[in-house]
Amino acid sequence: MATSSTVRPASRTPFTTCLFARTMRRWIAAAVLGGSAVAGALPEFAFSKLAAAEPEVSYRGDVWPILKRHCWSCHSGTDPQGGLKMDSVADMLKGGDSGPLYVAGKPDESRLIQVISGDKPSMPPKSPPLAAMKVDLLRRWLAGGAKDDSGGSPLGPAAGPPSVAIPATYRFPAAISSVALSGDGKRLAAAVRSEVVLLEIDDVAAPPRRVPTDCDLLTHVEFSPDGAVIAASGGQPGRHGEVRFLRYSDGGAVATRRSGNDTLFRGNFSPDGKRLALGGADGAVHLIPVDPAAEIRRFELHTDWVMDVSFAPDGKTFVSGGRDKATKISDGETGVLLRAVDASPDIITAVATDGVFAVSAGRARTLIGYDYKIALSGVGVTGAGNGAQPITKRDQYTKPFEGQPAEVLDMAASGDRKLVAVAGMFGEVRVYRIADRQRVASVANVPAPIYSLALDQAGTRLAVGSKGGQVLVYELPAGKLLRTIVPVPVQTASVNNGS
Ligand code: HEC
Repeated sequence: MATSSTVRPASRTPFTTCLFARTMRRWIAAAVLGGSAVAGALPEFAFSKLAAAEPEVSYRGDVWPILKRHCWSCHSGTDPQGGLKMDSVADMLKGGDSGPLYVAGKPDESRLIQVISGDKPSMPPKSPPLAAMKVDLLRRWLAGGAKDDSGGSPLGPAAGPPSVAIPATYRFPAAISSVALSGDGKRLAAAVRSEVVLLEIDDVAAPPRRVPTDCDLLTHVEFSPDGAVIAASGGQPGRHGEVRFLRYSDGGAVATRRSGNDTLFRGNFSPDGKRLALGGADGAVHLIPVDPAAEIRRFELHTDWVMDVSFAPDGKTFVSGGRDKATKISDGETGVLLRAVDASPDIITAVATDGVFAVSAGRARTLIGYDYKIALSGVGVTGAGNGAQPITKRDQYTKPFEGQPAEVLDMAASGDRKLVAVAGMFGEVRVYRIADRQRVASVANVPAPIYSLALDQAGTRLAVGSKGGQVLVYELPAGKLLRTIVPVPVQTASVNNGS
């Protein structure tokens, strides 16, 4: 195959229609946002707001995010379903083919509540029903008179520049979509919806520093190899991918770069710290230099979302994996595909490499190593003429680790690339030595699902980001819990299913 972005895989599907709700649903096959069960103790400032009286429900801050996530993708645009547009309070009052969506002050008479309540709510169709907590919030908004604090202007992406609302205090625990550790394991960065939270792990008294971004949802945070810069990436679904390079010292932006027209997912700094390789919803790997003057390059290597990318320690190759179930090795400079090393029965969510083995994991509950040298040594052919049979050598270069208890959602390599930590839809983090695939540590009783993981340079500290809004830091290999952090202020520790 030839180089660069002109290479298009045969069966690409268009991604331009990705909207927030769908992006999230599919991203890790589970909802990243919303209320969820928080097991165990909620420390630090999570409790401080519990005593506060129930505040008034805001359309802009509370109602719109729910509608946007669960309804708006079908109830917007020029031909909304059922004739019902939900871009603004005025649209909802106007309603659809069968009349207004709500009656102010009367939640029980409002169709908004009727269609999302009961044993089998009719909306959203073919999706899990809204969490009781969200239904309750909509109810309270209607009961309070359905006040419109949007300033009258629609908040949806179609209506102008996207607005990212970052609450001072979150109503529900917000999932930790990504965590990162500095090489020395002392500094931590966590992605919570649209903000990055920075903190010193050993300084319990220092408050977390919150840095807002314009991304609808951050999907990846990572420290540069020298620890001075943090990359935070994500984007606006259907609009653009974005990476913000931030100084750890003061949270200031070094550069903000946009690439493509859809969300960017996870990836990895190049070993020299000069560029970031990220997977995209457009099926491409995006190579994004920190230097704003240097050109961004895209390599269309996959036929569907690229979920993760990892550079080899020498920077000469990178491994990528994605929703097309493929694991691929490509040239780190030119982006030329060197080898599609495997096709998994299910989506690949995470990849890693130590330069000797590529490792990939995902929904199929498998963790597989691929010997680079054998995999890249080419395809042998036996026989001749019409009888020629390619030999894939797959069984020669494929080195499975032990099976995983459930879907894997993230994998993190230590800075020295000797270890990988693996976790997902199960309450355990397993740590393996890449070289011999042996498990060297296990951390049990971690609140699942686990959305994100990070290891420091030597693999002596592990950070875990949970769906329930906690970041947990452990010492390895003992698995001793050092700190539990709720990085953003949360009003309530209510328990719900988070759908
Ligand atoms: C996947 C697409 C989709 C999503 C998401 C969705 N709807 Fe619908 N909705 C439809 C379709 C299709 C119809 C028309 C057919 C029908 O009435 O079943 C409809 C009709 C409706 C109607 C009736 C409109 C009228 O006046 O006849 C209401 C009310 C409604 N939806 C509310 C909601 C709410 C509230 C949400 C979010 C909780 C939501 N919908 C999410 C597809 C969707």
